[in-house]
Amino acid sequence: MLLEDAIITEHGGMGDPQYKIWRLVLKIEMTKEVKPGQFVHLKVSTGRDPLLRRPISIAGIDRDKQEITLLYRLKGKGTEVLTQAKPGEKLNLLGPLGQGFTVPQSGTLYLVAGGIGIFPLLPLAQEALALGVTVHLFWGGGNQSFLESAGLSFWQALDIAVEVSTLDGSMGVQGNVLDLLRKHELAESGRVAVCGPMPMMAAVSEFFKETNFEVEASLEERMGCGLGACLGCVCTLRDEQGKLRRGKVCKDGPVFRAKEVVWDAAL
Ligand SMILES: Cc1cc2nc3c(=O)[nH]c(=O)nc-3n(C[C@H](O)[C@H](O)[C@H](O)COP(=O)(O)OP(=O)(O)OC[C@H]3O[C@@H](n4cnc5c(N)ncnc54)[C@H](O)[C@@H]3O)c2cc1C
Ligand code: FES
Repeated sequence: MLLEDAIITEHGGMGDPQYKIWRLVLKIEMTKEVKPGQFVHLKVSTGRDPLLRRPISIAGIDRDKQEITLLYRLKGKGTEVLTQAKPGEKLNLLGPLGQGFTVPQSGTLYLVAGGIGIFPLLPLAQEALALGVTVHLFWGGGNQSFLESAGLSFWQALDIAVEVSTLDGSMGVQGNVLDLLRKHELAESGRVAVCGPMPMMAAVSEFFKETNFEVEASLEERMGCGLGACLGCVCTLRDEQGKLRRGKVCKDGPVFRAKEVVWDAAL
């Protein structure tokens, strides 16, 4: 884990401005260490406001160019300040942080995304593909314009099956990502990586419960330190003996085995 001043090489809005999605490319030294599913903790302001860093997943890793890509949605004060950062400027970050996804070495990998939960999944798809894994994406969003604004073309450029659902039926199956999954004949076993809103991840976890799939979910919690020190990001986990324990999303996660997560406590 490093604390470093990254240099902004590209920064700008992506797609239809109504979705407020931004793409930020940073030149950093730590690309060799980065694993899919990890995140960086960004100091968005050079001053004291806002004081707390903001966690953003690593959505692209280019080890040759020593660059990482972050995709984020403008939400409140922190991300608003971040949008003002310009190429050539420095941005202080802590990272790479947390435990990422398991990259399978063979077999089938299903990626299941809800909305902007798609962002951390691209590096996982790329690493698994490079190992010869069969990768299949199921992605649900509000409508076609949102999916295109959130990077659908990055996925269509990969050699994988891309299945989408939209709530308004403007693209793919009408409904949510669970409706999409139910319409597909699934492989007998493999791995699943899921990222999106908590209720959606809980439902996907339940969907695969009685199957031979090993499911990992990337959780989101409000964060303070990002380093396991402040207990700002705890979640409830249950081990195989049924014993409950607390996990820190920043350090023990953000990626957890879905069957370990006590979803009721999180919703
Ligand atoms: C591990 C992890 C990875 C993430 N990856 C991405 C990503 O790739 N792209 C993206 O758009 N967003 C991502 N988020 C959510 C992102 O961190 C929040 O949207 C952002 O911090 C909001 O900050 P704000 O000041 O703009 O909003 P405000 O609502 O003003 O934030 C106020 C405070 O709440 C915290 N906060 C608010 N919403 C969230 C949230 N949903 N999760 C965690 N903390 C929150 C902020 O960090 C800040 O401390 C991630 C969150 C986590 C925990
Ligand atoms: S954010 Fe401080 S312990 Fe996780």
